Amino acid sequence: MLFPSMGLLFFYVFFVWLKASLATNILGNETDVIALFRFKESISNDPYGVLSSWNTSSHFCNWHGITCSIKHQRVQHLSLQLCQLHGTISPYIGNLSFLRTLNLASNSFYGEIPREIGREFPVSLANCSELRLLNMSSNNLYGRIPMEIGTLKKLEKLSLNKNNYSGEIPSSIWNISSLSILSMGYNYLEGKIPEEIGKLKSLSGFAIGANKLSGELPSSLYNLSSLAIFFAAENQFHGSLPSDMFSNLISLQEIGIGGNQISGPIPTSISNASSLQLFDIGYCSFVGKVSNLGNLKDLYWLNLNYNHLGSNSALDLDFITSLVNCTELESLVLSSNNFGGVLPNSIGNLSAQLTEISLDFNQIHGTIPETICNNTNLIDLDLEYNHFTGFIPNSFGKFQKMQLLGLSANNLMGEIPISLGNLTQLVELSISKNMFYGKIPPSIGNWQNLLYLDFSGNNFSGAIPVEVFSLF
Ligand SMILES: *[C@@H]1O[C@H](CO)[C@@H](O)[C@H](O)[C@H]1NC(C)=O
Ligand SMILES: *[C@@H]1O[C@H](CO)[C@@H](O)[C@H](O)[C@H]1NC(C)=O
Ligand SMILES: *[C@@H]1O[C@H](CO)[C@@H](O)[C@H](O)[C@H]1NC(C)=O
Ligand SMILES: *[C@@H]1O[C@H](CO)[C@@H](O)[C@H](O)[C@H]1NC(C)=O
Ligand SMILES: *[C@@H]1O[C@H](CO)[C@@H](O)[C@H](O)[C@H]1NC(C)=O
Ligand SMILES: *[C@@H]1O[C@H](CO)[C@@H](O)[C@H](O)[C@H]1NC(C)=O
Ligand SMILES: *[C@@H]1O[C@H](CO)[C@@H](O)[C@H](O)[C@H]1NC(C)=O
Ligand SMILES: *[C@@H]1O[C@H](CO)[C@@H](O)[C@H](O)[C@H]1NC(C)=O
Ligand SMILES: *[C@@H]1O[C@H](CO)[C@@H](O)[C@H](O)[C@H]1NC(C)=O
Ligand SMILES: *[C@@H]1O[C@H](CO)[C@@H](O)[C@H](O)[C@H]1NC(C)=O
Ligand SMILES: *[C@@H]1O[C@H](CO)[C@@H](O)[C@H](O)[C@H]1NC(C)=O
Ligand SMILES: *[C@@H]1O[C@H](CO)[C@@H](O)[C@H](O)[C@H]1NC(C)=O
Repeated sequence: MLFPSMGLLFFYVFFVWLKASLATNILGNETDVIALFRFKESISNDPYGVLSSWNTSSHFCNWHGITCSIKHQRVQHLSLQLCQLHGTISPYIGNLSFLRTLNLASNSFYGEIPREIGREFPVSLANCSELRLLNMSSNNLYGRIPMEIGTLKKLEKLSLNKNNYSGEIPSSIWNISSLSILSMGYNYLEGKIPEEIGKLKSLSGFAIGANKLSGELPSSLYNLSSLAIFFAAENQFHGSLPSDMFSNLISLQEIGIGGNQISGPIPTSISNASSLQLFDIGYCSFVGKVSNLGNLKDLYWLNLNYNHLGSNSALDLDFITSLVNCTELESLVLSSNNFGGVLPNSIGNLSAQLTEISLDFNQIHGTIPETICNNTNLIDLDLEYNHFTGFIPNSFGKFQKMQLLGLSANNLMGEIPISLGNLTQLVELSISKNMFYGKIPPSIGNWQNLLYLDFSGNNFSGAIPVEVFSLF
């Protein structure tokens, strides 16, 4: 070949220039600057021009996204998140031996980090032994998570979520004892979480939701007293949870394990999980009674929907009374279970923050307690498909913020209270399949935001009020 390729030509010119530059000490450490130029070179699209400052007119420590160590003037942090950068990640990154943070989240890096350069990248990354944070979330990376990741012994935060990684989580990860955040959700990971996770004593955030992981959750997980956030929803985990599960999880604030095949009772030790703020076990196969939750003072999110909880018996909803202590509660979702009995009056003494009560598809009977109208911040009240009897309380007019009201498929009767016209924010109203009668009140003309209205399957009489036709 007569001429070198453009790449080689570039580097020949580059090195000649680099030598001259180093003589005048513009660029500082040559290893870092070569690595950064190589990194820039492997990016094919930079729509915001964030890398335009990466040029010879200034020291690399002043380039966009770079922070240097003051003492050595070496690259310590490389942070280019949300830049829409498209390309691969140069293996030269492994030469940034002072690197502590690599944050390339929310870009379009692709390839088996990276595709063209095969396995080189993980090996060279392993040379960044000072790395504390590696954030590659929201890119298009695929293939297996490289085993070499385990050589990053000082890693504290690792985020690979929202990529296309597949295969098993490399066992070397469980050896990185400094990890406090491990986030790998929204990939195609499979296999089990091994008992070795118990070695990550500093783990405070563990997110593996929306993968294809299976097996039982390892019992050593429940020994992690620093664990604050645990998300494993939307996987294929099965098995039941030990009753003392929460006894050592003293820091736990949020747990979401819904959308799995987890079965058995809710561990009774939940009564002791006093830091819990979010508890979401929807779409699993939990059975039995819900214990007293009165110690969970910070609970704002309780979702138990689509399980087999309750036994269609009188005491099923007793735990609602204990929720009176949960003064932060915003969302109470108990839909699609087997809860029976009557709805206790204490439903009116719950948190002032409450915006959602969903009790649909259960076996609840008795009247709708008037006290429920104390929850004047409710946006969503869903009582459909139960056995409620009696009337709609007149004080439903207090629900000034209500958007979704579902009362269908109960045994409710009487006339529609005029006060319901006060619910001017209503978007959906469904009262079908009851025994309502009388005239449809003209006040429904106030529902100017309504998108869905179902009055069918009742005994209404008289003309449809003309106001209906003024509805947008
Ligand atoms: C650049 O860093 C390398 C590796 O740490 C070191 O060997 C070299 O002396 C440094 N060069 C300069 C000019 O600071
Ligand atoms: C080089 O970087 C400087 C900022 O350091 C910038 O003002 C200038 O426009 C850049 N030059 C090119 C050719 O992009
Ligand atoms: C930097 O990294 C590349 C690829 O990993 C390697 O070939 C090269 O020898 C390294 N050293 C320097 C000084 O650039
Ligand atoms: C990673 O970056 C994303 C997007 O900037 C951010 O939301 C997330 O908190 C980061 N994760 C870690 C562990 O730093
Ligand atoms: C990693 O560092 C070692 C020596 O520190 C070096 O020999 C090797 O080439 C580096 N690997 C890569 C891929 O840069
Ligand atoms: C990631 O997976 C999604 C869904 O399977 C697919 O549409 C997308 O093309 C994949 N991206 C890459 C970079 O492989
Ligand atoms: C984890 O560390 C142990 C002990 O240091 C070592 O024996 C084992 O090979 C390591 N496992 C992996 C997968 O790196
Ligand atoms: C949990 O920790 C206790 C005390 O450190 C230990 O005895 C027990 O074996 C651990 N259990 C698991 C499953 O790791
Ligand atoms: C709650 O904690 C106390 C004290 O640690 C313990 O005695 C009790 O058995 C625990 N209750 C449950 C239900 O685990
Ligand atoms: C509510 O909290 C108090 C302590 O603040 C406690 O004594 C009481 O038992 C709790 N109520 C319920 C129903 O758990
Ligand atoms: C709830 O409403 C009832 C009347 O329906 C009222 O007597 C009671 O004091 C209210 N409770 C709270 C906590 O506001
Ligand atoms: C409904 O609104 C009217 C005014 O439009 C008001 O007088 C009445 O008190 C409200 N009813 C309820 C139950 O809030």
